[in-house]
Formats: sequence, C-alpha cells, structure tokens
Amino acid sequence: MNNILPIILAAGESKRMRSPQPKPLLPLLGKPLLQWILDTLRGIKGLQKPVVVVGHGAEAVTRAFGPSADCVLQEPRMGTGHALIQCLPLIEARKADKVLVLCGDMPLISANTLEKLLVSKADAVVLAFTPDNPRGYGRILTDKNHRLVRIVEERDATEAEKAVRLVNSGMYILPVKGLAVRLKALGRNNSQGEYYLTDALKSMAEEGLEIEVVRTNDALEAEGVNTPRQMADLTRALRQRIIDGHLESGVHIEDPSLTFIEADVEIAAGARILPFTVIRRGVKVAAHCEVGPFSHLRPGTRMDEGSEVGNFTEVKNSSLGSHTKAKHLSYIGDATLGRDVNIGAGTVFCNYDGKGKHHTEVGDGSFIGSGTLLVAPVKVGRGSRTGAGAVVAARRDVADGTTVVGVPARPLKGGGA
Ligand code: UD1
Ligand code: CA
Repeated sequence: MNNILPIILAAGESKRMRSPQPKPLLPLLGKPLLQWILDTLRGIKGLQKPVVVVGHGAEAVTRAFGPSADCVLQEPRMGTGHALIQCLPLIEARKADKVLVLCGDMPLISANTLEKLLVSKADAVVLAFTPDNPRGYGRILTDKNHRLVRIVEERDATEAEKAVRLVNSGMYILPVKGLAVRLKALGRNNSQGEYYLTDALKSMAEEGLEIEVVRTNDALEAEGVNTPRQMADLTRALRQRIIDGHLESGVHIEDPSLTFIEADVEIAAGARILPFTVIRRGVKVAAHCEVGPFSHLRPGTRMDEGSEVGNFTEVKNSSLGSHTKAKHLSYIGDATLGRDVNIGAGTVFCNYDGKGKHHTEVGDGSFIGSGTLLVAPVKVGRGSRTGAGAVVAARRDVADGTTVVGVPARPLKGGGA
C-alpha cells in the first residue's frame, strides 16, 4: 500500500486564536505550524505530495507553502466534509488508494503515530485520544469490539455521549473507493449547519466497513493549537524537547530552563550555551563554540569552530570564521567575518540605510576596536585594525594590514598597526 495522498485541512478561520495572521503561518519556535506537519510528512515513505485545503488567508498560505504542497481553495467554508469535497478532482487525478486526512493546527503530530495509522489493515482509521478536558471535541462512540460506530460533535451530543472521554483528533485514513459518493451524500442537519466529515465515517460503519480507532497518549500531538494558551503550552513542551535533543547529542547547556532554542538549529557536540541565550531557527553552531550568556543568534547565523559570542551581542544573517570572537555589546548583521577576528565591545555593523540591507566583510585576523561603526557596504581587509570609536564609512574599504582611526576613519599616519 504505497499510494496514499495526505490532505491537510487548513482553511478554518480559527477565531479563538484571535490572530491577524492565518493560523498555518503562525510560528511555533520559529517554524510555521503547517511547516511542522509538512516536514514530518516528508520523512514518511509511500506518501504522495501533500494537498493543503486553504481558505482563510488563502493567498498568504499558498505563497508560503506553494512549492511543497498543492493548495486547494475552499470558499465558502462549510465544514470539514465540505473541505474534503473540494479535493475530489485532485484525489481522482492522483489515483490515490487512500487519503490521510490531517489538521493544519496539529503541528506536533509525530511520524511514529502516523506510521501506526498507516500500517493498519482496517478499511479506515481514526486517531483518537483522551484529553484531560474533552470539551469541544467530537466524541468517539464504539461498539463492543472497539470499532467505530460514529463520532458525535459535542454540540450535537446527549449528556450520556458527552460523558465519553475518548475524542476525535480530526485525523483519519480513508479509502478513496466510495469516498466521493459518501461525501456528496453528506447532509447539514446538525447544530452548525455544516457538512461533517465525521458523518462519512458513520456511513462507512453502517455499510459494514471496519474502522479502527488508534489512540495516542501524547496529548500534545493530538490537541493541536486552538488558543493562545495552547500555543504557549506547546511552545514550552517543544522547547524542552528541543533542548533535550541537544543535550543528548552532547551540547553543553548550562541551564536548560534559561535557554531558548528554536526549531532546526544545528549545534555540534562540545559547544557551550550559557544562560539567557536565544537561538533562532536554522542557526548553525560548530564544535568548541561558546554562546552567551545573553546572546541572540538570529536566522542565518553560522559560527565556525571555536568562535565565541558573548553578552548582549546579536548576530543576524552572518558567519563568524573559526576562533572569531564578539564577546560584548555588539550587533553583527549581514556580515562575513573571517577567522581569528576580534570584535571589540560596542561594535555595530550598520547594515541598514533606511531602504535596504548591505553586506560587510571583515578579513582574517582583523581587530575591530571598541565602539567601531562599520557602515555597509564595506570591506575591512585581512590583518587590519580600527581604532576605538572609528566610523568606517560605506564603500571606504580598508586595505589589508591597515590601521584606520577617527570619524570618518582614515589610515593612521605611518601606516602599520
Ligand atoms: C473537528 C471534528 C471533531 C474533532 C475536531 C478535532 C468534524 C465535524 N469535527 O471539529 O470531531 O474532535 O475536529 O480538532 O469534523 N477546516 C477546513 N474547512 C472548514 C472547516 C474546518 O479546512 O470548512 C479545517 C480547520 O482549519 C482545521 C480542521 O479542519 O484545521 C478542523 O476544524 P476545526 O474547526 O478545528 O474542528 P471542528 O470542526 O470543530
Ligand atoms: Ca481544531
């Protein structure tokens, strides 16, 4: 069974988030919610290119994920069943045998759990869980063989049904055979006047198809993100997992509770991360580096072996060559620093002229004096020095082995360092 089409439902408005940004784009530790799911799917064999149902904020979502998924517009939005109906032409075109339905707001769904659904021999599968508080979820009603009978939404449930603690995560595997007929037969006779995808499962059960209920014990993966509170809870838990991963791979983190590391950060074994440090998504830190305390490494930062960034230093979209140091009170943006460079306290790379960002290059073995302003675009040659408080003006490159001082910075009379 190698022909499964993943479909991610992500058209909903998500009123409870109260965010101006569409939910699939909201960052969780630096990575958009939907990207978490796409990354997980990419690691699973036998899946086709994912389809994403977009609606609220469709344009922005399509722009962000267009290359890695096919986006299908649902407009207007009339429920989860209606969302899947929009995908029927694509399902047919892809000649899939089954669809794997996921929700765009379940970023932590694990490959492990998805594999459990995928290996099932049943006709269809539902992922269920037992939250501390089942409020708001559809309740899973089963027969005595633990097979699904139907799913009842809380608003449509009787008191007895509401007492059921096992709930629907909103994730399923469904057979393509007969799917179109079942979806087109859905009615809207429910409290929300929506086409419920869950009713298609009920009709499968009535036809005698076997629907397996797979459970996950990991509430974080199944609860998803519906409120800012849940986003914060997920962030906290995930942050801990990420830090644990780095500790296990040999990174020295002095105080994990005071360190913030986003997704997709690479840190080599033996590197030291000191407290109150924030490392954003995609940063790369090599072996024997030291970061912190109080450092901020933003996207695009690469630290080569043995380089060091210290307190109140921010680095963005810049690389630091091996053994280069910026230990105090500096901003390094859009720069390439060679090896063995020393950045004095209070140095600022002035990368922004009010319109665009510009690049700065600092050659191997240079010494940048305290309080230097390097106005981009500019190059400081190898083995050069700047005096304390120098302002190196844009395009006034400093030649190799030269010392410059003053405002604007000029070569020191007599030349050498
Ligand atoms: C649905 C399930 C419910 C389950 C819950 C889990 C139905 C009828 N109910 O509830 O049993 O416990 O998910 O979260 O399916 N979406 C669209 N288009 C729409 C409506 C929703 O794409 O027209 C997407 C949303 O963006 C979201 C997902 O579908 O990613 C689930 O929608 P949501 O509104 O969160 O769930 P409910 O319909 O309340
Ligand atoms: Ca939801």
